[in-house]
Amino acid sequence: MVPRLLIRHQEIETAVGNLAARINQDYSGKNPLVVGVLKGSFIFMADLVRLLGFPVEVEFVRLSSYRGSESSGKVAMVNGLRSPARARDILVVEDIVDTGLSISCVMAHLSRKKPASLKLCALVDKPSRRRVPVTIDYLGFTVPDRFLVGYGLDFNEKFRNLPDIYSLEEGDSAPGAITFVRRY
Ligand code: IMP
Ligand code: MG
Repeated sequence: MVPRLLIRHQEIETAVGNLAARINQDYSGKNPLVVGVLKGSFIFMADLVRLLGFPVEVEFVRLSSYRGSESSGKVAMVNGLRSPARARDILVVEDIVDTGLSISCVMAHLSRKKPASLKLCALVDKPSRRRVPVTIDYLGFTVPDRFLVGYGLDFNEKFRNLPDIYSLEEGDSAPGAITFVRRY
């Protein structure tokens, strides 16, 4: 597998800024509960909430992984929401929507709690592999069917800490190969 630089950190920063600007407009005067889906969203979530100009509360949910047994398409909530969600404005933050099975499970879990509103913000959408319909209210990037790593996204739990996003592709040369830059 050959890593190719797909989205530079600077482009990610611009996209996160644009998403935050829209969210700031839509939620002004509100006090939403921002719910990140672990683990992939942790970096995106951290950058996004620091650009929001109103008080937020932060929560995380976690799902069982179905990767490796993808044909079953089974996914279950491992750690659900702990804070009361009834009548709250909830904004879910996800790294990437692929088949849509994971995020549908999260949205269904949260809508059962009767929130005042429920919206989804995803950094990346891979619509070509969708198996269930998903409405993404705030979206950063749409990408083709490639496996991505970096900026929270992992391959076997590695590469989450890369500032840029790479795609892993078949090939025999490695332009833009993964480099970990040591700044300190
Ligand atoms: P879905 O249920 O197929 O939509 O998959 C969503 C979850 O799988 C995401 O939240 C990611 O954690 C993971 N995932 C999907 N595509 C990728 C990828 O290209 N790189 C890394 N993780 C991915
Ligand atoms: Mg995820």
